[in-house]
Parts: sequence; C-alpha cells; structure tokens
Amino acid sequence: MTCAAVVPAAGRGERLGTREAKALCLVGGVPLFVHALRSLGASGRLSAGMVVGPPQRCEAMAAAVRAARLDVGWDVVPGGATRQDSVGRGLRDLASDVDVVLVHDAARPFVPVEVVRRVVDAVGAGADAVVPVVPVADTVKQVDGAVVVATPDRSRLRQVQTPQGFRRSVLEAAYTAAAASGAPGQPASDDATLVERAGGQVVVVPGDPLAFKVTGPLDLVLAEALARQHG
Ligand code: CTP
Ligand code: MG
Repeated sequence: MTCAAVVPAAGRGERLGTREAKALCLVGGVPLFVHALRSLGASGRLSAGMVVGPPQRCEAMAAAVRAARLDVGWDVVPGGATRQDSVGRGLRDLASDVDVVLVHDAARPFVPVEVVRRVVDAVGAGADAVVPVVPVADTVKQVDGAVVVATPDRSRLRQVQTPQGFRRSVLEAAYTAAAASGAPGQPASDDATLVERAGGQVVVVPGDPLAFKVTGPLDLVLAEALARQHG
C-alpha cells in the first residue's frame, strides 16, 4: 500500500474573517496548514502529499513547507473556486504508484495520529471509502425558512471529520463522475459525498474532538490554546 495525502488549503476563510488566507494564519507562531501537515506526517503512513493553496499564496506556502523541514515531501499547487475543485486539482498530480489517498482539510491542525492511522488502516483492510466521525452534541433541526419541519433522530447522526481515506481508483472515479454530471451550484463539502453519489459504500471509524476544524474566530482561540499546550 502506498498512501499519499491531498490537503485542500485554498479556501478564503470567510467565516474566520482574517485578512490573511486561513491556511496561513499563525497558530502558536506556525501557519495553520503546517500544523495539519505535521499531524498527518506524524502517523508514519504517508509517502508524499499535495497541498492545494490559494493561487496568490502558493509561493508563501512552499516557503513555509521548506522552513518547517517536514519528513514527508509536500508539493504546493494552486486550487480552485470550490473545495471540490481544489481537491480535484490535487488529485491530478499524484505519483502513479499511489493506491490510497487521504484528503485532509488544512483547517484541521491537530488531528491525532490515531485517527489518521485508523482511516488508512481501514482502507488497507479493504474499505473503498472511510470517514472519521463523532457523535452530534446538539439537537439538529431541519428548517424551511424560520419554521422547523423535522427533527432527525440525533442518535443516528454523526459529524464528519477528515482525513477521509479512499482507494485511489474509487475517489478518482467519483471525481470524474461529478465532473461529468456537472451539478452546478452543488459542489460537495466533503469527498465521501461524491463516492456516495457515485453509488459507493462509505464506512465510518471513530474520529476525535481534537480533529475539529478551525472555522470561526472561537475555533482559533481553541487552536492557540492547544498549540501552547503542544509546546
Ligand atoms: N478549501 C479549498 N478550496 C476552496 C475552498 C475550501 O481548498 N475553494 C479548503 C479550505 O482551505 C479548508 C477546507 O477546504 O482547508 C475546508 O473548508 P472550510 O473550512 O469551509 O474553509 P474555507 O472555505 O476557507 O472557509 P469559509 O467557508 O469560511 O470561507
Ligand atoms: Mg468553505
């Protein structure tokens, strides 16, 4: 098994609201995406990786990768308008011997190695697509405007994290099918969704609260506190 990672990092971070691209925001003095690369690399399961950055910031990201002296070799390529476009761009340049692909949000800096290993190992054991999940803490309502129309049974819901792991052929086929169907205005917010749409089976493994995504300002406060703790 040869496993590589694609790390989408090309988002604008509108909900965070910082001037700098979210992936380059400093957390404990280190760019957010570099934490994510370190966390993935620490699993010992990766042969290489692609970081997909904002086109204007790819040079700065490549410099940050060099400065970090990481064990895994990371290339930086420019991303697209949606997360789906960015991941598709990263998939294009993977080495031919790669047969397992992890897709991990740059905005999840502190994913524990155990989660990364669980995902990779589940693909190694034969799953086509694997997502790490955690229980949903709040009750979730489906609404139509200001009116509640349904309350799904919370015990059957899961919040989905990354890294998500895939047999390479399955993920590539799902991306090809998505590109062919076009579905404009409906880009997937995660990769497993494309496998589901293509009729594939996605299995879950336990995620971890530490694999949280830095989305809003409060998440950055938590990330700073954790970076201080990590040393
Ligand atoms: N992403 C990407 N290319 C895009 C949009 C998102 O590579 N066009 C990446 C982000 O950089 C992030 C991950 O996908 O690492 C998850 O997306 P999200 O948390 O939504 O980040 P942003 O899209 O940057 O934030 P926002 O939606 O608040 O603008
Ligand atoms: Mg987004």
